[in-house]
This record gives sequence, C-alpha cells and structure tokens, in this order.
Amino acid sequence: MKTPGAVLLLLWSALVVVAAEQSCLTEVRGMQRELITLVEQQREELRLAKAQVEKQIDALKNEVRPSNVAFSTSFSVKTDKHIGPLKTDTTLLFDLVFTNVGNAYDTTTGLFTAPLKGVYQFNYHIFAGGDQGAGHGAGAKLFKNKDEVVTAYNHVAPHDINTSQSVILQLQEGDTVCLLLEAGWWVAAYTGHLTTFSGHLLFAVGY
Ligand SMILES: *[C@@H]1O[C@H](CO)[C@@H](O)[C@H](O)[C@H]1NC(C)=O
Repeated sequence: MKTPGAVLLLLWSALVVVAAEQSCLTEVRGMQRELITLVEQQREELRLAKAQVEKQIDALKNEVRPSNVAFSTSFSVKTDKHIGPLKTDTTLLFDLVFTNVGNAYDTTTGLFTAPLKGVYQFNYHIFAGGDQGAGHGAGAKLFKNKDEVVTAYNHVAPHDINTSQSVILQLQEGDTVCLLLEAGWWVAAYTGHLTTFSGHLLFAVGY
C-alpha cells in the first residue's frame, strides 16, 4: 500500500509540475501576444507620427517656396531681324534673359510657369520696324494657359510701330503665360532690344 501511494504521490506531483509549466507557458504565450500587439500598435503610432512630421515638413517647404519670382527678356540677336509675318500662330521665344529669378521663364519653350499660387504682373513691349512686314500689323497676344488674355497690336504702319500691354493675373501653381505671335503679325528682334517681355510676382496667395 505504501509503494502505490508513493507512486501516486509522485505521479500527482509530476502532473502538478506539468500543469504548472503548462499554465506558465500559456501565460508566457499570452504575454508574448500582448507584446506583439503592443509593438504593432507602437509601429502604427510611429508610422502615423512619421506621416504627420512629413506633412509638416511639406507645409514648411511650401512656406519657404521661392517668394521672389521675376523675369525680364528680349531676343538675342547679332543683327537686326524680324520675326514674322508667319503662316501660323507661334509662341514667341525670348532667348535673351536679363533676369530670371526663380527660373520660371523657359527660354526654350517661351513659357513662364508660375512656381506658386499668387498675383503676377506681366509687361510687354512690341516694336516692329522696317519694310519686311509692310502691309501687316505688329503685336502679340498674352496667353494664360490656352486662354487669350490681352493683346498689344498696332495695325499697318508706314515704317515702325510700338505697342505695349500690361496685365495683372492671379495664377495657380503651374499655370503658364506666354506671348503668341498671331499668324500674319510680326515683331522686330533688333540688337537694341526694342521688343521685351517681363513679369514678376507681386505677392503670393494662401501661404
Ligand atoms: C517706336 O520706338 C522706337 C524706339 O524707341 C522709336 O525709334 C520709334 O520712332 C518709335 N515709333 C513710333 C511710331 O513712335
């Protein structure tokens, strides 16, 4: 009787130990799950915080965007010549840059692209002289994107003409402005730079 009792006791003890280990293991697993959940939560919080910081950096970048935008151009020529009259409407390429702060005027496309939302002023002066354009008017139209905004024009002149225009436009970032030479019109590209196109940001909007 003594021996089976001892065996039973031993078995019982072993069971208790196993059960204790089991419950300990369950507890550990539970803690492990909690830890994993916690890490995942913190990872998510970190991701959100990072996104928040990135957003703030972007906002800051917007605030310090180029607030100085100004360009002033004409035609770069070695000898006096004329542009036009042409058969099709053509964007005038002002390839002589006096000023291009903010690099918003592209001499290869003739387009000014607003680097930020704001109110801009544009001025242009058109000169046409000599006999090449005899019988043709001289001038140019200012376009905002695909829309005609203002025109400077002078009809057929006996010898030379001057015409100019100025406009203030509210532009969105990415809006383009250019001067278009209408088919049949002409302008002079003289070494004295009598034809000019310029513009500048008056003030930014919404920053
Ligand atoms: C146009 O301007 C040019 C340059 O200043 C001048 O030589 C010319 O006489 C002007 N033409 C007229 C018609 O005013």
